[in-house]
Amino acid sequence: MQWRIVVTRSIPEAALEELRSVGEVHVCEQDRPLRAEELHEAVRGAHAIVSMVHDRIDGAVVDAAGPQLRVVANVAVGYDNVDVDALAQRDIAVTNTPGVLADATADLAFGLLLMLTRRLGEGERLLRSRTPWSWHMSFMLGTGLQGKTLGVVGLGRIGQAVAHRARAFGMEITYTGRNRVDPDVETALGARYVSLEQLLDEADAVSLHCPLTEATRHLVDETALERMKSSAVLVNTSRGPVVDEQALARALGRRSIAGAALDVFEHEPTVQPDLLDLDNVVVVPHLGSATTETRTAMAVLAARNVTGVLAGAGAHTPIGA
Ligand code: GLV
Ligand code: GLV
Repeated sequence: MQWRIVVTRSIPEAALEELRSVGEVHVCEQDRPLRAEELHEAVRGAHAIVSMVHDRIDGAVVDAAGPQLRVVANVAVGYDNVDVDALAQRDIAVTNTPGVLADATADLAFGLLLMLTRRLGEGERLLRSRTPWSWHMSFMLGTGLQGKTLGVVGLGRIGQAVAHRARAFGMEITYTGRNRVDPDVETALGARYVSLEQLLDEADAVSLHCPLTEATRHLVDETALERMKSSAVLVNTSRGPVVDEQALARALGRRSIAGAALDVFEHEPTVQPDLLDLDNVVVVPHLGSATTETRTAMAVLAARNVTGVLAGAGAHTPIGA
């Protein structure tokens, strides 16, 4: 049986080699996300689809693919872009890429936190604008992290990797989430489990590491932002819609929180224009997992999920496992 494998956007060669070892691979070569009708056309006849975070994979896409479709391998840990129920009803396996991107994403979250608290973006903009400046005692003062409290929303693999870094910077850790983590993990990280409300009340920095679900959409809304200290900052490397971006822009504008660093956006790739006018905001274009090593590992894991399912051996990282 010659499998047809459709990859919606170019991925590293190592992953393509893995896929080519079991079937005929069609890579969509456009350098932008496919529009819905293009995606429907591209997947026709596929036994496997390798999808990206920007592809909306729903019942219509799998129906367009046809009844032979066996697996959708999303090249991301998040899978809010996949209608998992619709695929489960049709017995199509769905997989993601957990684990391999935790360090890269945690590095980015911590880098964003430092950018914000040490005003690195502002400093860069100052020099690039060729504005004259001179060192003085109160020039561009930021805030230190040592002794401050980091509130981690979602202490999964990424959240833990962030907490680990925060400990090295002398921070205290609180966390919240659907479940309490293993007591050994709590002890190793010195992490205290608290309610979301308590976390927002106490944290000097809040870092979001939860998946986007109906329960977490706009988790950080007007009310949540109101609870945060006026000296606190928000870091989002999870998914844009976890934060109500308009409420955030308002809170930042009136300085009811001190700053925000965002890797993801509610209406990605669009960034709310109000945010771009604020100096207490750091924005980067969804770079959480964007290292050569990590993207290769993600794509190879997705490819192995495809080859595992097609070979009847099952996926390495099925969703729900
Ligand atoms: C990227 O955003 C991911 O979920 O891996
Ligand atoms: C990250 O890789 C996660 O699964 O949380």
